[in-house]
Amino acid sequence: MYLRLITILYLSSFSLFAQSDLPTDFLSKEFHKERRQKLREKLPPNSVAVFFANPVRNRANDVDFIYHQDPNFLYLTGYKEPHAVLLIFKDNQTSANGKSYDEIIFVQPRNAMREMWTGRRLGDEGTRNLLGLEQSFDNTEFKKYNVDFSKFDQVLFYDFFNDVRDDPSDPSDLYSLIEDFKVKVNYESKNNINVSLEQRKNNLNLTVLDGYMKALRGIKTEEELALIRKAVQISCQGQIEVMKALKPGMSEREIQGVHEFVFKKYQAEDVGYPSIVGAGHNGCILHYIENYQPEVSSKELILMDLGAEYRGYTADVTRTIPISGKFTPDQKAIYDIVLKAQEAAMKKVKPGVSFAELNQVTKDVVNKGLKDLGIIKSVDEDHLYYPHGCCHHIGLDVHDKGFRDAIQENMTFTIEPGIYIPENSNCDPRWWGIAVRIEDDFRSTKNGYEHLSDLAPRTTEDIEATMKLPSPLDNFILPDLKNKK
Ligand code: GLY
Ligand code: MN
Ligand code: MN
Repeated sequence: MYLRLITILYLSSFSLFAQSDLPTDFLSKEFHKERRQKLREKLPPNSVAVFFANPVRNRANDVDFIYHQDPNFLYLTGYKEPHAVLLIFKDNQTSANGKSYDEIIFVQPRNAMREMWTGRRLGDEGTRNLLGLEQSFDNTEFKKYNVDFSKFDQVLFYDFFNDVRDDPSDPSDLYSLIEDFKVKVNYESKNNINVSLEQRKNNLNLTVLDGYMKALRGIKTEEELALIRKAVQISCQGQIEVMKALKPGMSEREIQGVHEFVFKKYQAEDVGYPSIVGAGHNGCILHYIENYQPEVSSKELILMDLGAEYRGYTADVTRTIPISGKFTPDQKAIYDIVLKAQEAAMKKVKPGVSFAELNQVTKDVVNKGLKDLGIIKSVDEDHLYYPHGCCHHIGLDVHDKGFRDAIQENMTFTIEPGIYIPENSNCDPRWWGIAVRIEDDFRSTKNGYEHLSDLAPRTTEDIEATMKLPSPLDNFILPDLKNKK
């Protein structure tokens, strides 16, 4: 009895404090509702779209990675917890009690004990009240939810990866939701070569949903842009603070820590991807995330590609700076080619231009620059000095969903040319170990672009001037660790 009272008290006080100490600038429930409606408008006649929350990922033993919602699920609902499924119908459905509805969500139930261990849950009521999803139920109800999926012309969903763990103690975890769904829609017959062709013909469509989500997520609304601008601004401030604080002898990890400290100081919840901080030849590894070099040398450049994630939206900003505070003539020669390539692409940005065209402009400038320096023999030479494309969308994913064939107004994307010259490259050794990437974030406008990341110094002159400024970390000196036996 006493325990029950505590439980009731705990649960009833829960919703009060859950609301008071959470950030208030997440996407609004009106945003999610409008996005669901936009998706509904794209759906084919007599169809339903089904989305599942991301799985919980195990790190090791009884420790999981910090949970991160599937970006489509977050975009459509704002729900940030695991073990949930969302259905969006093209047409109104009628429930058993005669109520009309065109969307329904099943979420993990409230559970005082589990919430004490792993955190607060919205539950069906919280999902209704805070996220505005009227038809919200505990996920324990999904198994007996009796919509006849065979009546739809199409059931649209993303195919499953075999990477969801079954929690045998939870009969309505994500694993079970997916298994229940598979039974409801006769999923196995789709791929089962042992059943006849006639049996395999069904109404499951695993391909078109991604195109709809690309069309929606590729064009940002004002509400999204406000969050992206904030994520980018925070990331630029990280670059500035590192430019001021950097000293030869620091470690790559310490430099990463300065960026990420700035992110957290501004309340960014995470990084949008593992931070890349590579000094010298480490900068030649495009996605170098070990960041283990214990002392960076004053002779080298350091390439720093980091993005703060703010309310789900991530920036993607790279600056490459000289550890000594001054570019050598060779470093500057390479840097200025990359800068010129980026600016050539920036000049081209406007609606109608494709990412492939921007990419080609940067390749042309880089090839000419490398030839002028004698690093390649002709502009047509095959080489690996610039092995990646120059542009991708940014948003809820660092490589966000969106079409790349023609820029439209309010797309957000990177322009990020680079030159990487690893040891033993087929050129004069004086260039070996030089790696430069310059990556900025943009929003396309009616006639051109908004340069979202222009706060971070970008020319060699501006970088050198910023590196001369004092840093609040100049006096942050810690004692050596004592060798305790
Ligand atoms: N940070 C990954 C990329 O630039 O695409
Ligand atoms: Mn990028
Ligand atoms: Mn990047």
